[in-house]
Amino acid sequence: MSSKVLSAAVLGLDCELIEVEADNSSGKPGIFIVGLPDKAVDESRERVRSAIKNSGYYSPRGKTTINLAPADLKKAGPAYDLPIAVSILISTHQLRIKDGWDKQVFIGELALAGQLRSVNGVLSICLMAKSRGINQIYLPAINAAEASLVSGLKIYGFDNLSQLINHLSGQEIIKPFKPVDFFSTLKSALSPLYDMSFVKGQNHVKRAMEIAAAGGHNILMSGPPGSGKTLLAKTMTTILPAMTMAESLEVTRIYSVAGLLPSGQPLITQRPFRCPHHTASGVALVGGGAWPKPGEISLAHRGVLFLDEFPEFPRPALENLRQPLEDGIISVSRAAGTLKFPAKFILVAAMNPCPCGYLNDPDRNCSCQPSSIIHYQKKISGPLLDRIDLHVEVPKVKFEKLADNKNAESSAEIKKRVDQARLIQTKRFKNFDIVTNSEMTSRQAREFCVIDEKTMELLRQAVNQLGLSARSYFRILKLSRTIADLAGEEKIKLEHVAEALQYRPKVE
Ligand SMILES: Nc1ncnc2c1ncn2[C@@H]1O[C@H](COP(=O)(O)OP(=O)(O)OP(=O)(O)O)[C@@H](O)[C@H]1O
Ligand SMILES: [Mg+2]
Repeated sequence: MSSKVLSAAVLGLDCELIEVEADNSSGKPGIFIVGLPDKAVDESRERVRSAIKNSGYYSPRGKTTINLAPADLKKAGPAYDLPIAVSILISTHQLRIKDGWDKQVFIGELALAGQLRSVNGVLSICLMAKSRGINQIYLPAINAAEASLVSGLKIYGFDNLSQLINHLSGQEIIKPFKPVDFFSTLKSALSPLYDMSFVKGQNHVKRAMEIAAAGGHNILMSGPPGSGKTLLAKTMTTILPAMTMAESLEVTRIYSVAGLLPSGQPLITQRPFRCPHHTASGVALVGGGAWPKPGEISLAHRGVLFLDEFPEFPRPALENLRQPLEDGIISVSRAAGTLKFPAKFILVAAMNPCPCGYLNDPDRNCSCQPSSIIHYQKKISGPLLDRIDLHVEVPKVKFEKLADNKNAESSAEIKKRVDQARLIQTKRFKNFDIVTNSEMTSRQAREFCVIDEKTMELLRQAVNQLGLSARSYFRILKLSRTIADLAGEEKIKLEHVAEALQYRPKVE
């Protein structure tokens, strides 16, 4: 007899339904898997055979063909173990499925003894399954909480194969997983370890970070060693607003596919902070691989990507950031086509002004050759610098300030203003698919960033004198919008544009 059950393939962040068919015939004994399986899927037959045996059932003596359809889609990973086992058990009359086979999805990796192991991409699979009219998901118990984030599905979680067989055969029915309201745990990333009040002085840098956080703008900090750049960057997430439910689901989906959901935590509740080292590979940074996984820039989605020692990153790696910085999305090429991962992050970059770090330092001499300074600064291309709205210098803090025990403004206080500015943006963009000012298209910028003639004249002069690009012009407008929002002003005023202009790089 032949049988059929449904499973799912994860492709980037998206999924496809996979039909898993089993057919028994006389012939060379063994399980044969067809339908473009990769090595992990092919090895599934050994795991499935042992798991079936160790659960007290038997595999057919003759030839069993497993077909994974559609046949032209490559199948990867061990998540097909469970549907293959269920399909074999049905085809050998050891198990029956009562409800329609096309309403249920099975996913899970099997251990040799029959235990079910966690799989990646469960949230994406459940979202897809729901959209295709599936109403029941059978998976490892450890993945049940994550699956339950999608409402309207009956989620059944099992520790092992016999538990699932007992349930399906009606011997020991288990209840669907009771969804927990994980969304009530969404919170801002206030931390006892990092707080803006721990950073002495650097008020102008904190102001720039507040603007970056409020409007989702990118920021580059440049200064001598030990001036607090890394400390400030690590504090960035503490002044960002808590994620919305939709944002949290988007981020969780990425972490789920990457297999990076912390155990016991099915929902990512805080904005991510990622700080890849400059020796990280291109694939680690932007994503990819034979089975494309999201890279650091997607893991930073809706949060902060911190690139410390910015010029030390290989030039091709930095150039790869250009598309995501513009569109909030990264295209990863693979043999069968291109996959897209979301990558809307705030870039926080830090660098020294020269290789020795002391260029323009009032107390120490810079020991670099002029040519090496130029070479160092040229490592970051113009188009990339153009995409960074806020360029700030972070000078050394004077000893008196460092020793000052007076507490500066806390992250919580700054965050209140950021939240307020975000609220204005949420209202402004309620009919659009964007959240912050930095995401505005040129057309939206024209609509929402109206300036009067006097202010326009200032901007005109600046554009001409500094030789700014059209992109810079719109970026300045958007940054001014954020500065005005922080001030609670409906109209962008001269002073807002003037402040925005201060943050452009001195040499373009
Ligand atoms: N403004 C400051 N207020 C309080 N502590 C500071 C400040 N600046 C630096 N520090 C202290 O000095 C340490 C080093 O600072 P940090 O690592 O942020 O410097 P940096 O600017 O990143 O230097 P580098 O260019 O060498 O990477 C911090 O961990 C912190 O303890
Ligand atoms: Mg540093």
